[in-house]
Parts: sequence; structure tokens; C-alpha cells
Amino acid sequence: MPKRIFITGTAGFIGYHLARVLLAEGFFVHGIDGLTDDYDLKLKRHRLGLLLRNERFTTDEAMLEDADRVRSAAEWFRPDIIVHLAAQSVARHSLENPRDLLDSNIIGTLNVMEAARTPEVDHLLMASSSSVYGANDDMPLNETEKADTQLTAYAATKKANESMAHAHAHVWGVPTTMLRFFNVYGPLGRPDVVLFKFVDAILSDRPIDVYNNGGIYRDFTYVDDLVRCIRLLMDVVPEGPGNRSGTIEGDSLSAVAPFRIVNIGNTKMVRLLDFVEAIEVCLEKPAQRNLMPMQTGDVPASCADATLLHALTGYRPQTDYREGVGRFVEWYREYYQR
Ligand SMILES: NC(=O)c1ccc[n+]([C@@H]2O[C@H](COP(=O)([O-])OP(=O)(O)OC[C@H]3O[C@@H](n4cnc5c(N)ncnc54)[C@H](O)[C@@H]3O)[C@@H](O)[C@H]2O)c1
Repeated sequence: MPKRIFITGTAGFIGYHLARVLLAEGFFVHGIDGLTDDYDLKLKRHRLGLLLRNERFTTDEAMLEDADRVRSAAEWFRPDIIVHLAAQSVARHSLENPRDLLDSNIIGTLNVMEAARTPEVDHLLMASSSSVYGANDDMPLNETEKADTQLTAYAATKKANESMAHAHAHVWGVPTTMLRFFNVYGPLGRPDVVLFKFVDAILSDRPIDVYNNGGIYRDFTYVDDLVRCIRLLMDVVPEGPGNRSGTIEGDSLSAVAPFRIVNIGNTKMVRLLDFVEAIEVCLEKPAQRNLMPMQTGDVPASCADATLLHALTGYRPQTDYREGVGRFVEWYREYYQR
């Protein structure tokens, strides 16, 4: 029997790509998404429309804050696995709507965790973020290091999700994997992230804002690689303390719960100015650089240690940023006819 996967945030960037890949593999997928207005709703509806072409995909338009809707969707669909991706993560929206941020990311996540235990699923995977590393500056960033210096309210909600999930896994025994994503990009990507904003600005003859005078380094992870990692990790179910078959060096597996944290990143630190150059090459057009100071809440550098990911799955992201930027630009030009 093909497995049944319940994904939150299927109108979103990563949720769409994950559902697309799982449907192609023969899974049944049920999505839930509140179609929040933090960015272009046409793009969210477009992603959903593509998924709905597959008859193994069903969807609910509902907010995760509505516990009854989340629970009844899970009771009806009876998933084997839940992948929780819906969250408020658009920085400006979170700053302007801090209560929405907490409702969505804390109450919404609690409701998903509750839905995962009645009936109990085989595995609950939830999106965390590289932003939980906050002010940590010892690159590459490793899952077992202390991470207590979050710099934004969004990052704090992700760190809180990890703590909530650990307690939930300890009390209820639901095997849970937290996924720390690093700067995901690719076709059908979000309009609020640098790649989209830069391409849009360059094509519109507007200058691009380059923070920290260009001294920013990021670990850009191509969405197909990220989705492949999630797919492989779905099968790597954290074992409880009583029934472990072996140990992996550097594992983040909890001593008291079936709970693990895994980085998903490309493990290459790319200078933002090199990323801009790759965009210029693809667009065959120079950017006007507006060099700016560092933004509050931002960090100069971020890079994943993916040793654990590789040990668990035998795979690590590998798309070079120049190739990934090219694929994004190709999609952007066709979708927006520019
Ligand atoms: N894209 C990245 O670079 C990145 C990096 C780190 C972590 N993450 C995390 O990965 C996950 C997916 O990110 P994404 O880039 O696909 O974001 P996205 O904003 O494109 O997708 C999130 C989806 O969730 C929905 N949603 C938001 N709040 C909701 C709520 N309360 N109830 C129901 N639906 C709701 C939105 O309508 C949206 O379609 C998020 O949890 C995000 O924090 C993303």
C-alpha cells in the first residue's frame, strides 16, 4: 500500500515541491494551507493548482490555529507520516504582526503535534531553521552545539518548536525529526527572499540592497536537493531510548526521547556578491548595487555541517549555486513573461 503523507503548507514554496515529488513517487498526499496573505496569493494558488492535477492529492484550506480542522483532517486522512512546513516566515510580516507569528508558529505547531498522536503517526517531521543558531559564529554550524542566542522573534518560535517537539516526543513517544533548513531557493520560490527580489529589481532597473556592504555569506540550498533530503529522512525514524540498534558519531538523537535535529544545507559558504554575479550572468544584465550596513536580526555568515544528514541518508545537497540560480531565472522569466 502506498503511504499516506499529510503535509502542512502545501501552497507554500517547500510544501509544494515536497508534495510534487511524493506524488510522483506514488504516495497519497493530503495538504493543509491557510493561504495567508504574507505574499502573492496568485503564486500560492498556482502551486496548489499544479498539485491538484494529480488525483492522489487532496487539500484543505484552513488555518493551523483551528485545532478542530487540523484534527479532523488528520482523522479523516489517517496519515502514516506528517511533514509540518506551514509557518509564518516572511520577515516583514512577522515584524508587523508579532501575535500572528506566535499564533501561527506556536499554537499552529502545537495543533499539528496533537494531531500526530491521535491516531499516532509513524513519524513526524517539522521545519525548523538555520536561524535558531542566531549569534553562533563557529562555522560550520552543528546540531549538537548550544543554540540559545536567537536574533529574531521568528527564530525564537522555531527554537521553541524544537523544545515543544522534544517534550512531546518524550511524553507521547511520537518519533519526531526537526529539520533545520538553510536558505532554500529555486523555481516557484518566495517573493520575499534575496534571489527573487534581486532578479525582480535588476529586470526593473531598480538598485538592489546589499547588506553589510556585501560582507554576507550564506549556505544556499537548492530546493530539489532539500526535498530529496526530506524524502530520505522520512524513512529514518528516530528510535526511543529503550530500543536503539546502534550509535552514530555526532548524532543529535535525544537520550530521553525518539527525537532528533538534522541540518539540511549545501555546506558551502557563498559570498552574497558572488551570488549577485551569478544572477547578472544569467540575466545578462548588471545590477546597481546599493551597499548598506548590516540589518538588525541578520547574521554575517551561515553554513551547515551536514555530516549527520549524510550519515543518516547517504546523501547531501550538491547543486552549485550558479546552476540553481540559472534554473530559478528560467522559471521566473517564463512565469512572469519578462
Ligand atoms: N525557505 C527557506 O529558505 C526556509 C529556511 C528555513 C526554514 N524554512 C521553514 O520551512 C517551512 C516552509 O517554508 P517556505 O519557504 O515554503 O514558506 P512559505 O511561506 O512559502 O510556505 C508556508 C505556507 O504555510 C501557509 N501558512 C502559514 N501560516 C499558516 C497557518 N497558520 N495556518 C495554515 N497555513 C499557514 C502559507 O499560506 C504558506 O503557503 C517554514 O516552516 C519555514 O519557516 C524555510
